[in-house]
Amino acid sequence: MSTTITIKNLSKHFGKVVALDNVSLVIEPETFVTLLGPSGCGKTTLLRCVAGLEDPDGGEIYIGNKLVFSYDKGISLPPGQRELGLVFQNYALWPHMKVDKNITFALEIQKMPKAEMDKRVKDSLKEVQMEGYEDRYPREMSGGQQQRIALARMLAYRPKVFLMDEPLSNLDARLRMDMRAELKRLHHISGATTIYVTHDQVEALTMSTNIAVMKEGVVQQFDTPDKIYHFPANLFAADFIGNPKVNLLDGVVSGKNSVDLGKFKITIDTFNAAGSVVVGLRPEDIAISSQPVPGAVEFSAYSVLPSGADTTIIARLGDLELTIKVMGISKIKMDEKIWLSFNPHTLNLYDKESGNLIML
Ligand SMILES: Nc1ncnc2c1ncn2[C@@H]1O[C@H](COP(=O)(O)OP(=O)(O)OP(=O)(O)O)[C@@H](O)[C@H]1O
Ligand SMILES: [Mg+2]
Repeated sequence: MSTTITIKNLSKHFGKVVALDNVSLVIEPETFVTLLGPSGCGKTTLLRCVAGLEDPDGGEIYIGNKLVFSYDKGISLPPGQRELGLVFQNYALWPHMKVDKNITFALEIQKMPKAEMDKRVKDSLKEVQMEGYEDRYPREMSGGQQQRIALARMLAYRPKVFLMDEPLSNLDARLRMDMRAELKRLHHISGATTIYVTHDQVEALTMSTNIAVMKEGVVQQFDTPDKIYHFPANLFAADFIGNPKVNLLDGVVSGKNSVDLGKFKITIDTFNAAGSVVVGLRPEDIAISSQPVPGAVEFSAYSVLPSGADTTIIARLGDLELTIKVMGISKIKMDEKIWLSFNPHTLNLYDKESGNLIML
């Protein structure tokens, strides 16, 4: 019953703005795919094109075997014929209907028996922690509660495909965490192919089977969270994902296994690259010591920022600054000398000009 979504060479312009630029993605059955990127990169536009709420100006979209959009063939099925469940940023509940009616509206059109509808209302409200709200109007609830009702409505409908545009954006941090766990669980149980939009990289990493990192209407990388985190395909993806941010250091290749960073040379496989490069180091991959260690580079602790579970340390060597993250509360004090070691296997090398990852 599960569905592949195939997007081929999709483009969408709004006047001079290129919202989508030749986007191709194959979203495998039962996967949870996140569209991730900064504001204005085209996430909502792509989701709306799949939903049939926006007509692209080039390309094709298949939902399962059904061609739902083709620019060349002049095909564009209306949203109702695409068998999708939608939740959007602005949740779009019917203001004149109570919660139960909002949830059952689409089910009544399908002529679902009353007992089954009642059960779906009850179950879906439970799933979003909103039991007992059946008789409220949307205006009688907070934004976060309305957003959860919109989610419940989608869940009750049980579509083959879920499309969600920042469905948790109005929830407070605690509830967002709970709802992430619930949504992931629901996806696990239902197996519905899901496209999920967020600009929150943590949400993308925690929820997804695959992430499409987007910038200015172009997909920069489409891969598993693990690959995207550990092998970002370019400097944009590297910089966008990770908190604290990745360290990106300019350097020049100075040997088969060496890059000169100015203040010191770092050992890394340079894969026959030459000239200007950028070395990417994740803050948690840097080893820190308060004593000299063979091969380590001496820095000074510019700032130490404990946050309970971990500590972020800003290290400086002249004008070279590195961010380091260690587990727990660090004993290192501000202005102390520290020694940093770098594991070549955890470093990534990028071409300075193209910004692309250099690999074998
Ligand atoms: N109806 C429209 N008319 C004109 N321009 C639009 C329209 N919808 C979107 N755009 C433009 O297209 C680009 C992509 O917008 P889109 O809404 O897809 O971004 P987004 O990635 O969802 O951003 P956000 O994270 O802010 O929601 C933006 O430059 C936006 O201004
Ligand atoms: Mg958007």
